[in-house]
Amino acid sequence: MGPRLAWAPGIGDHARPAGLPRPSGGSTARTAGDPGVPLSLSGSGPDEFPTPAPPDPHQASRGPSPDGDRASMESFIHETAILEDDVAIGEGTRVYSQVHIRKGVQIGSETLIGEKSYIAYDVRIGDFCKINAFVYICNGVTLEDGVMVGAHTTFTNDRFPRAANWEVSEILPSARTEEKMLTRVRRGATLGAGCCIAPGITIGEFATVGMSSVVIHDVGPHLLVAGNPARRLGYVCRCGWRVATFVHGPEFDLKEQGVRCGNCGSALRWKAGGEIECLADEA
Ligand SMILES: CC(C)(COP(=O)(O)OP(=O)(O)OC[C@H]1O[C@@H](n2cnc3c(N)ncnc32)[C@H](O)[C@@H]1OP(=O)(O)O)[C@@H](O)C(=O)NCCC(=O)NCCS
Repeated sequence: MGPRLAWAPGIGDHARPAGLPRPSGGSTARTAGDPGVPLSLSGSGPDEFPTPAPPDPHQASRGPSPDGDRASMESFIHETAILEDDVAIGEGTRVYSQVHIRKGVQIGSETLIGEKSYIAYDVRIGDFCKINAFVYICNGVTLEDGVMVGAHTTFTNDRFPRAANWEVSEILPSARTEEKMLTRVRRGATLGAGCCIAPGITIGEFATVGMSSVVIHDVGPHLLVAGNPARRLGYVCRCGWRVATFVHGPEFDLKEQGVRCGNCGSALRWKAGGEIECLADEA
């Protein structure tokens, strides 16, 4: 028997703890057509990137770290960050100390790149993303809008890697080959701290990967997965709150009833075909 979906005891239907800020309702995602937004990755396929027209990152303000709690998001690139050629960075994006961004990377607006992170060539990162410190993002990765990547998370793109040819007489090139696999983290998803993501993975919209997980299979939208290898624990709302837990048995109840988030009041519903929609503010 497959896993059954049930209400998470004391989680899905209890009230938000006092003091926890209510998540802002409605979508703030902007589209590629909005002025000043060079890149929007929501729902776009690998070949559907709008051509970005970002400010020149080499012209963005450079210097030591600014005050952390500034209300407005100004573009900022720390003086110790390395940006190679053809890097596009959107308005309000902040790149902190000792970040290395390789050639051809495109980063959207109001995104944070934490210190000592490495972003390989041609990576795409959307608007409103948070990349914490010490993150390794390899070639072939796309992060859509609103993605969070916890500290020390590592992406991979080569399933059977070798440093040298089989005679061990020549180092192999690092440029992308047909064997290199593409990974996509969809809009609003979160990867906890210290995760490792296998090559060629898709992580669905608003999914959450628990800290220190090793993700070797695709993760569906709104799923909560964790562990090594990462396994399904339940479902999370768009706001990140766990709304359901898997238990043993047939997987029926929740999909028929839907789930209401105990934190933000959104309703998660399953449409025919298994697609999930999250309807805000129905409380
Ligand atoms: C995955 C996560 C969201 C689950 O939180 P939760 O819903 O409160 O879950 P609980 O702590 O009640 O744990 C539920 C079950 O999942 C397991 N679990 C939770 N987190 C896990 C993880 N990271 N890896 C493996 N198992 C995990 C627990 O052992 C527990 O199993 P059990 O029921 O058999 O005892 C949370 O543990 C997590 O990893 N959050 C991300 C934190 C992070 O990295 N933040 C980065 C920015 S600071």
